[in-house]
Order: sequence, then structure tokens, then C-alpha cells
Amino acid sequence: MLKIGDIEMKNQVVLAPMAGVCNSAFRLTVKEFGAGLVCAEMVSDKGINFRNEKTMNMLYIDEREKPLSLQIFGGEKESLVEAAQFVDKNTNADIIDINMGCPVPKITKCDAGAKWLLDPNKIYEMVAAVVDAVEKPVTVKMRMGWDEEHIYAVQNAQAVERAGGKAVSLHGRTRVQMYEGKANWDIIREVKQSITIPLIGNGDVQTPQDAKKMLEETGCDGVMIGRAALGNPWMIYRTVQFLETGKLLGEPSVREKIDVCILHLDRLIALKNENIAVREMRKHAAWYLKGIRGNGKARNGVNECNTREELVTLLNGLVAEAEEKEVTVG
Ligand SMILES: Cc1cc2nc3c(=O)[nH]c(=O)nc-3n(C[C@H](O)[C@H](O)[C@H](O)COP(=O)(O)O)c2cc1C
Repeated sequence: MLKIGDIEMKNQVVLAPMAGVCNSAFRLTVKEFGAGLVCAEMVSDKGINFRNEKTMNMLYIDEREKPLSLQIFGGEKESLVEAAQFVDKNTNADIIDINMGCPVPKITKCDAGAKWLLDPNKIYEMVAAVVDAVEKPVTVKMRMGWDEEHIYAVQNAQAVERAGGKAVSLHGRTRVQMYEGKANWDIIREVKQSITIPLIGNGDVQTPQDAKKMLEETGCDGVMIGRAALGNPWMIYRTVQFLETGKLLGEPSVREKIDVCILHLDRLIALKNENIAVREMRKHAAWYLKGIRGNGKARNGVNECNTREELVTLLNGLVAEAEEKEVTVG
């Protein structure tokens, strides 16, 4: 089982933190599909410390999402500690996660994200400072290294453990790789064997079978799923079921997909407002529509939608079309 500090997850399946995706609307939906732990999108320490309005809104957590891990990122110790203390005292997050994996230049150029992967001592210093300053368990999410020549995953994870971190999530790619190539699961096994705190494996889990394989091959304590869950909370449900019962459930019907897409939309509207939510929902809708035959027109159409009504009409139209085709075929 996956246990981080005193927090026990009901299973080993973890929703990855994804910027622009993992807000309360999506997280709650994925939670309802059975995720053991959901991770919030990364939040800037500076945004928190300056009480930036948009950043403050990102800290909203629905009780039903718990247990939840909230990720912060930053480049300077003082600023990161201050933000962690704010999250510790003022949010109902269960876990504070520090981002050490973000490869995006906007983040790494200010000495945050994956940059720290070059220096285990820096990781120790940062994590120890945050651990000392907060009560909630602190974890770290990292990539396996900066580039092929600098793979310090073992040293870095050990530094997290020595500093009092309560778990590590490891994406088996380097910073330089971005999302290219295949995630390296051997390094996940190596790191697992070198620390005693829980390790959550991450990278290229695309099917429930992949999740089982990663758990078995690496011995990791939890399996983190990112891209495969986009527009597809069923991936989480099917994985939980497969791990628990060995049964591989089928894919959802078009009606089910669209119903959950609309539920997600309505939660996003409640969280933001209709105008922002519908625009944000365009990319999600395209993800929900993936795999539905004849979706080309609808996938383009979602980008033209500006209101809930327009989007819902388009989505329901697709369901009607799909159901009609099935009737005709039958
Ligand atoms: C749209 C998107 C946004 C992401 N944002 C974050 C983030 O905020 N923090 C983070 O640590 N990783 C972030 N990641 C990386 C994922 O958490 C995960 O490590 C990566 O996608 C590999 O897992 P996967 O193969 O299951 O997708 C993001 C990935 C994607 C696709």
C-alpha cells in the first residue's frame, strides 16, 4: 500500500500533477473514478507569497478530493519556505510536494524545476528547510537527471530522504529529453532499492497493464499517471480495477464520455466562470473526444465554442450521431 507520512492511500494509483489541467474540477472527477491520490498543478512560490489572486484561486481544494498533494515550485530557499508555510497553514492539502522535474525553460532559467537535479546538496538544503518549516509531509517530484551525462537520481532521492522528505515521485526521463524517447523504468527500480521512503514511479504508463508492469518490474510503491488520464478518467478507474481484480474493463461508451466531459465542464464553470471555463475546456473536450470515430468535425468545432450551451449542443450532437450509427449498424 502507499503511505506517505501518516496518510494512507486507498490504492497505489496517483494522478500526476499537470499544469493547466489538474485544478479542482478535474481532480475531483478523477478522484471519483477511484484515484488513491490526486496531485494539484504546480503553483509558483512567488505567486503565493505575493498573494496573487489567480494563484490564490489555484489553492482551492474540495474536501472530497482528499487525500491531495499540492505542488509548489521556486528557486530560492526563503521564498519556497514561505510559500510552503502558507500552504501548510492555509490550505487543506494533505501533502506538500516540491517540483524538481519541470523542464520548461521559463521555470529552469530561474533556477527552479529540474535545475536542482544537478546538485544533490542543493536538494538536501531546500528539502530540509521546507521540512523544518511545516507540519504536513513533504515530498519531491523529480526527473531522473538533467541530461544523460548527469543522472543523479539515486543521490538526489537519497538527499530527499536524509532531509526528511516522506516520498519521491520519479519520472524516468531527463530534463533534456522533455517528452522524447521512452521513460526509463530501470532507474525507477534502482532508486527504489536505494531509499526506504515510498517511491512513486512515473512515465509512459498508458494502459492498466503498464501500471501493473511498472509496479512489478520496479517494486515502486505507487504508480503515477499523467497524459493517459487526459480526457480519460476511465484510465484511472480501469487501472484501479485491473490492479485489484485482474479484470480489464472495456472503454466507456460515447454517451458516458460526453456525460463526464459535461460534468467536468460544469465543475470548471463553478470554479472559474463560463467564459474562461469554456475556453479552457476546449482542449479537454478534444481529449475526451479522442478515440470516438468520426470526431474530426467535432474536434475542430469545440475550438469555436464560446458558451456552455454551444459546447454542450455540439457534444450531445456527437452522441446522437454515434448512437444512430450503432442503431443503423445493428
Ligand atoms: C500538460 C502537462 C502538464 C504538466 N505539468 C506538471 C506540473 O505542473 N508539475 C509536474 O511536476 N509535472 C508536470 N507534468 C509532468 C507530469 O506530471 C508527468 O511527470 C509526465 O507527464 C510523465 O508522465 P506520463 O507519461 O504518465 O504523462 C506535466 C505534464 C503534462 C503533459
